[in-house]
Amino acid sequence: MNVVTRVDDLRGLCREAREARLRVGLVPTMGALHAGHRSLLRAARGASDLVVLTVFVNPLQFGPDEDFSAYPRDLEADAEVAASEGVDVVFAPPVDEMYPGGSRTTVHVAGLTDVLCGASRPTHFDGVTTVLTKLFSIVGPSTAYFGRKDFQQLAVVRRLVADLDLPVEVVGCPLVRDHDGLALSSRNAYLSEARRESARAIPESLRAAAAAVEGGERSATAVEAEVRRVLARAPELRPEYVAVVDAAELRPVETLDGSTAVLVAVRVGSTRLIDNVVLDVTPGGSEADLGIVVPAEESESPCAAR
Ligand code: PAJ
Repeated sequence: MNVVTRVDDLRGLCREAREARLRVGLVPTMGALHAGHRSLLRAARGASDLVVLTVFVNPLQFGPDEDFSAYPRDLEADAEVAASEGVDVVFAPPVDEMYPGGSRTTVHVAGLTDVLCGASRPTHFDGVTTVLTKLFSIVGPSTAYFGRKDFQQLAVVRRLVADLDLPVEVVGCPLVRDHDGLALSSRNAYLSEARRESARAIPESLRAAAAAVEGGERSATAVEAEVRRVLARAPELRPEYVAVVDAAELRPVETLDGSTAVLVAVRVGSTRLIDNVVLDVTPGGSEADLGIVVPAEESESPCAAR
């Protein structure tokens, strides 16, 4: 496995692979790798000749009062995970390698980025789309892999690639949950045991929403109320938004029909967590996609080992 920190080195390795007609698969991350990231690496490994993992805590996507400095960083541990998943190249650049003085270009996807997470994090998605455009340009991947955990991010990336005709296929991978139901996230490391306990109400609220819809509920207002009712059981949780939207355009719906997503962002202390369930609603019934549960040996929750 190659670990590189310079843009030119990464570009060179990827160019060679493409010239040899190898399929390059890209998994962009900010590191602190967990089983959610592993699942993307496995998808990439299964379908690519050269797997490139990027580990870069991208300052552009953090607001001034956000956790850029506190964000967990452990390149050694990440390299071990990468090696165990058969990654070929790890790209871990310093900030000034990605943004040398004088960088003035921002990539902005309008509309989709103003709502939901974009409403409280107004510059966040510009940071994401700008760094991804750079990574796509440096790597030239056939395919790039993203998790459905970050549902809005995936929609924004699909739109970026479509609008700019970027020659990369975007693959969305299942949301991976820990054994207690919580969606895996590098930010779970911020939670005390008590807060983690409270945070379990987040996936519970989404399961309750899915159950209501499976029981025939089709009113978005009622589904939202059900989510809020379960979240309110844990007084430490402060919902930032609960939204029932169409899964492609992320526009609020009144009645559930077709592919509908219930998206939530919740603050637990100063930690902000997001989660979602996708509901496929047809005249015949509904099917909920809450993602998959991590294998016990990859769990971060102590109870899974028992
Ligand atoms: P990061 O939060 O490190 O996530 C990297 C990728 O892992 C994203 O595609 C995310 O959706 C996926 N992922 C994280 N947790 C997951 C889970 N529990 N199940 C499935 N997939 C999961 O997202 C980013 O970094 C950044 O915004 C990035 C795209 C790298 C741009 O800087």
